[in-house]
Amino acid sequence: MKYLIFGSKGQLGKEFGNYFTKTNADFKAFDIDEIDISNRDEVYLLCRSIKPDIIINCAAYNLVDNAETNPKDAFKSNSSGVENLAVISNEINAFLIHYGTDYVFDGKKETGLYTENDEPNPLSIYAKSKYEGEQKIKDNTDNYLILRLSWVFGNGQQNFIYKLLQWAEKNHFLKIAFDEVSVPTFTNTVVEITTKAVNKQLKGLFHLTNSGYASRYEWAKYVLRKMNKKNILYPVSKDIFNLPAKRPGFSAMSNDLITDTLKIEIPFWEDAVDNFLSKYI
Ligand SMILES: NC(=O)c1ccc[n+]([C@@H]2O[C@H](COP(=O)([O-])OP(=O)(O)OC[C@H]3O[C@@H](n4cnc5c(N)ncnc54)[C@H](OP(=O)(O)O)[C@@H]3O)[C@@H](O)[C@H]2O)c1
Repeated sequence: MKYLIFGSKGQLGKEFGNYFTKTNADFKAFDIDEIDISNRDEVYLLCRSIKPDIIINCAAYNLVDNAETNPKDAFKSNSSGVENLAVISNEINAFLIHYGTDYVFDGKKETGLYTENDEPNPLSIYAKSKYEGEQKIKDNTDNYLILRLSWVFGNGQQNFIYKLLQWAEKNHFLKIAFDEVSVPTFTNTVVEITTKAVNKQLKGLFHLTNSGYASRYEWAKYVLRKMNKKNILYPVSKDIFNLPAKRPGFSAMSNDLITDTLKIEIPFWEDAVDNFLSKYI
């Protein structure tokens, strides 16, 4: 099995790179400095020459607030780039694995966690561009797996745990939102479950998160306690931060469909955080 990874220097791309290196898999991996997925000609050329069996797209424009003032960049990577991958996957008969986001939901559901049957209603430019990316895949190939993730943390600096620990170094009192609720999800879990899904030839759209759910405040409190930090946390409404991009208040997704289909269990987010802290911090 030959794999081709895009977005290889991001949190998830690195986790796949480490896993494939450890397992001696046949893979090639590129980031934006080598191949920009929105460059159609280069992407087509590369895919036609490598002829991978599986393309894993970890590339994305993830700057949720910056996307509000740079919608072109967000749509270029998250929609046009993804469309390129879908079209070429279809042409060369490759299986396309792509990652979506819980931010496709508006947070207004009041009857439980979001499932794959719930209708998206993205609130921000970032979320709209990611949702359009999902549609581009469905329009251009049948041979795909879209896994929607939430609050991803792994080996990188674009994640909440890293930022929290930096804030905690500089400030004794920290204000953290209590009214943003989702599921912290470890890249390690994502790679493990993606691999299981590939082995079982899973296709279609699924939610993939660690188990459980938490507010940002609960997540922060857990991390600081585990790190023996004595900072004081104030639970505050996310509205006080006045961030440019609207975020859903409650976007926690259920992983029941993927766990039932694959007949597996996924670790709770607290265990995943413990694992992450012992591995990377
Ligand atoms: N991070 C989260 O909390 C979160 C939540 C839900 C879903 N997701 C989804 O999960 C997936 C993996 O996220 P992640 O956290 O690993 O992201 P990440 O750390 O931001 O990595 C994304 C990588 O893709 C690169 N990239 C951006 N545009 C590209 C392009 N046009 N062509 C090629 N590479 C490009 C980025 O390079 P630069 O850094 O130089 O731009 C970066 O190295 C993404 O689909 C993301 O949308 C993430």
